[in-house]
Parts: sequence; C-alpha cells; structure tokens
Amino acid sequence: MKRSSALFAACALCATVARATEEVPFITTPDEVTVTMLRMAAVTPRDFVIDLGSGDGRIVITAARRYGARGLGVEIVPDLVEKSRENAKRAGVADRALFREQDLFKTDLTAASVITMYLLPEVNLQLRPALLALRPGTRIVSHDWDMGDWKPDRTETIDVPDKPIGLEKKSRVHLWTVPAKVDGLWCGPKSKRGELAIRQSFQNAAARLGEVEFPLVIAATRLKSTEGKDRIALELADGRLRVIAAAGRLAPWNGARFSRAKGGACPA
Ligand SMILES: C[S@@+](CC[C@H](N)C(=O)[O-])C[C@H]1O[C@@H](n2cnc3c(N)ncnc32)[C@H](O)[C@@H]1O
Repeated sequence: MKRSSALFAACALCATVARATEEVPFITTPDEVTVTMLRMAAVTPRDFVIDLGSGDGRIVITAARRYGARGLGVEIVPDLVEKSRENAKRAGVADRALFREQDLFKTDLTAASVITMYLLPEVNLQLRPALLALRPGTRIVSHDWDMGDWKPDRTETIDVPDKPIGLEKKSRVHLWTVPAKVDGLWCGPKSKRGELAIRQSFQNAAARLGEVEFPLVIAATRLKSTEGKDRIALELADGRLRVIAAAGRLAPWNGARFSRAKGGACPA
C-alpha cells in the first residue's frame, strides 16, 4: 500500500473508532450485574457467549471462569482488547475467553448461544434484526437498555450502590430468548383437514385452529397456549409443528403434525 493510502486507511479506522466510542463509551458493568446477566441467561459450560462491545473483557472472562463457558468479546478500542487478553490470562481462562478488535456491527453472531450487551437503546434497536435472526433459543441479556416493542421475557432490577453512572444506583437486566419464526398458515393432516393460522409478534402470537382461537407464547421452538380451557403445546422440529399436548376443544389435535402451507393455502 502507498504511504498516502495507508494513512487514509489508518485515519478511516480512527474515525470509525472515534464515532463508535462517542456513541457507546466505555463504562464497565459492575460485577454483581455481570453475575446477574450470566445467571439470568442460565450460562453453562455448553455455552458460547459473545459480548458485544466487551470493554475490559469482564463479562466473557466471568462466563469462562465462573460458569465454564467459552466466549468471544468484540471491542473496537485496541487498548481495551489488549487489556482483556491480559485479564483473561491472569484469570487463567485465555484459552476459553477470546477477544477480537472488531466492529460489533460487522461481527458474525451465529456461533453464539448467549449474547450479552451493555450498549445504548438505539444501538440495541439497530442490532435487533440480526439478533432475531439467530438460532431459536439463543439467549440475549442486556444491561439497562431494552429493545423497544420486543419486550423482554424477564427483567430483574438490582441495587448497585457503586454504579459509576446515573443517580438511581440501580441496574436493570433484561432477558430475551430468540423465538422460532412460525408466522403464517400451517396445514394439518389431510384426514383432519385442519388449518393452523398463526399471527406472530416476537415471542407472542394469536392463533386459530379450526374454530378455536387462542394466544400462544413462543419460547425457542416450543409454542404454548396460556389462557382458557382450550390448551395446546406445539414443538417445531424439522420445519414441522407437532402438537405435544392438547386439552379442551383442542384435545382431538393431540399428536397432529402441521406443515407450512405452500402458495398461501392448504390443499383442499
Ligand atoms: C458500556 S461499555 C460496556 C463494556 C462491557 N461490555 C461491560 O459491560 O463491562 C461499551 C463498549 O462498547 C465498545 N464499543 C462501542 N461501539 C462499538 C462498536 N461499534 N464495535 C465494538 N465495540 C464498540 C466501547 O468501546 C465500550 O468499551
């Protein structure tokens, strides 16, 4: 690379780093909040945790040290990446807690079973489509900031007397589980001629099966009705929805399998 173009590339990177850190400055998540985030996400040694904007690396390091998980922190400030690697070495988890100097918006998130974030509301919203596209069941925990009308499954508020920002001295931790995408029309067994119509909004849905209408809650690949006597639970596997329990007027559907309608209608 010529000197002038090398300088230009370096300055372009400087500008990206400056803009990113101006938007989301480095503020650490206090230890008790880190533990709450990892506990709410139910992190185990089978998990791969990605912290978006990993600062000094504390979340990924705690996930590895305390919960035996593997993880990756992506951070745009080179000194913080260096510091995170040193911290991981000192904690004895450098083989399981990796750090990469990278823009979080350009990071491949598909390997994650857990995503952690302490960013800003508008950044969370920008990330939302990529998060919703992750494997159903992926858990996402965010310190303080939510994701607009994608309401969390659960929120915990904890006292944090030494919180470095804000007057309230409390932190909120929000948890979401990526729901399977089940919106649309599903066709039941020919013998029963049943149509299952689902209108999905994030982890909630309104459904109709035959004449029966009911609300559903979607947790990963499991769909469950939550109200009334007409109860149903379905599981999505291999692209098909299977009824694993049913009661009331939905009882006859127990064991039925539904496939996605082709061309917007079920066969007559
Ligand atoms: C509020 S701090 C959180 C640090 C750490 N996750 C924690 O909870 O202790 C946000 C971090 O995101 C980093 N950051 C901001 N924009 C980024 C971007 N586009 N890509 C990667 N990191 C970014 C900042 O440099 C900062 O270290």
